[in-house]
Amino acid sequence: MQTRPLLAVYRNEDIILTLSKHSLQDPCMMATPSMTDSSIDATDIHTAAEMLADALPRDPNLISNVVGPEKAVDAFLASWVSLLKQQGIDMKAVPPPFRVYACFVNIATLTPLPATSFDYGVSLASDADDIAALAPLRVEFSKASPNPMTPEAAHKSMREAVGAHRVWVCRSEQEIVSYALVSRATPQTIAIQNVFVHPEYRRKGMAEALVRAISHYYLGLALPGYVHHTEGPPEGPKAEVCLNVKASNAEAAMIYKRCGFIVDFDVRNPISGKKGSYISIMGSAVPLSE
Ligand SMILES: CC(C)(COP(=O)(O)OP(=O)(O)OC[C@H]1O[C@@H](n2cnc3c(N)ncnc32)[C@H](O)[C@@H]1OP(=O)(O)O)[C@@H](O)C(=O)NCCC(=O)NCCS
Repeated sequence: MQTRPLLAVYRNEDIILTLSKHSLQDPCMMATPSMTDSSIDATDIHTAAEMLADALPRDPNLISNVVGPEKAVDAFLASWVSLLKQQGIDMKAVPPPFRVYACFVNIATLTPLPATSFDYGVSLASDADDIAALAPLRVEFSKASPNPMTPEAAHKSMREAVGAHRVWVCRSEQEIVSYALVSRATPQTIAIQNVFVHPEYRRKGMAEALVRAISHYYLGLALPGYVHHTEGPPEGPKAEVCLNVKASNAEAAMIYKRCGFIVDFDVRNPISGKKGSYISIMGSAVPLSE
């Protein structure tokens, strides 16, 4: 497989489903721009997922993990396992470790700021001291994931992210006590990841402030008193800021909802009329013996 291949299923001019892989070690990414479009239903998605599986060479090493909308990933993996079985290769699809709500905020869904003032301030991390302070927080955050990070790996990942201006922090008396990353930037969207607050500083409104500040900044809106950056993103404002929150993390989902993220399935995007949120999973195909 080449780096960053992309397969897409179209209906007339409309993309229904895509499959891409950015590098060999990354999972395959499945996307359905149509997932939020009511003119394309579950049967269309199912059929498109089967077509994608059928278009691939029957190499069991090609696909291990697939991230994307639950229905599309499930249909794709079921089809992939069945196609391999026809070649005498026994694989099975395993249930995802967790499910997440994929949701977004835009200028129409942003909610008013809380009446209380916020004492901390949010800024982009920038130097070696920031990286050193962020690494242990990154290690702590990773402990809840299937792949906990070593301090060295956390330092390296933070060095790269700070260098790419992707790390936002909140400080208490100059000390970094919480952070969030941004990633997956497209011309129209950017995603917030890894919102983390040091346990001693929780329930003071820091996560909410970080998420509000980052959302306003990338949507091209000023947020005086919160963000220490008066100019918006150099590449111009985005139409949407996205994030994924584990379905089991009700506390975090409530914070995002308070900031204006559409976490409910039946609430529509007031700008496009499309569905606001869907469930995303990481599905896997492994040998039957595992
Ligand atoms: C989830 C997490 C980021 C929340 O951080 P936080 O800074 O405590 O969040 P906030 O303070 O903004 O909001 C938490 C609660 O404190 C309340 N709160 C905010 N300011 C407050 C204050 N001054 N006094 C009392 N309560 C306050 C909020 O209303 C909210 O209440 P709720 O649970 O009833 O909704 C944090 O617990 C964490 O880092 N968890 C581990 C990592 C994680 O799960 N990240 C989310 C990944 S998607």
